[in-house]
Amino acid sequence: DMGNVAEGEKEFRKCKSCHQIASADEVIVKGGRTGPNLYGVIGRHAGAEDFRYGADLKRAGEEGLVWDVDNIQAYITDPRGFLRETLGDDSAQAKMSFRLRDHQGDVAAYLAQFSGD
Ligand code: HEM
Repeated sequence: DMGNVAEGEKEFRKCKSCHQIASADEVIVKGGRTGPNLYGVIGRHAGAEDFRYGADLKRAGEEGLVWDVDNIQAYITDPRGFLRETLGDDSAQAKMSFRLRDHQGDVAAYLAQFSGD
């Protein structure tokens, strides 16, 4: 089902400590730099920002992982489990340890606003 953008915006408060949302022209959400910029993340290959990603997320992107509203929900629920399943590698590691317990669909809908223009 469709996520709720307003709920997703509220929930994104939990992400802001590590992620900003910034286009080439403007900072849309001021946030930390511990994680990559999430502007345009949906529709983009994993690990494609100018950021020091973990080797396994980088590898997933090189193997063809493109973020969409479904797989991004699985990732933010359990980044390490998602990478292990995607890569078929039980020793894969994630640099993002945060897990979102609910409202994943709302956050995906919120992020989709900043993608595909
Ligand atoms: C990576 C989303 C919370 C740290 C990512 C990626 C997404 C994402 C989609 C992959 C980006 C890409 O491939 O370019 C989110 C969302 C959050 C959240 C929606 C809130 C629900 C956090 C928090 C932290 C964090 C709180 C820090 C404590 C990171 C780091 C990476 C990352 C370090 C790089 C992972 C790697 O290289 O393996 N995040 N994140 N994130 N995030 Fe988050």
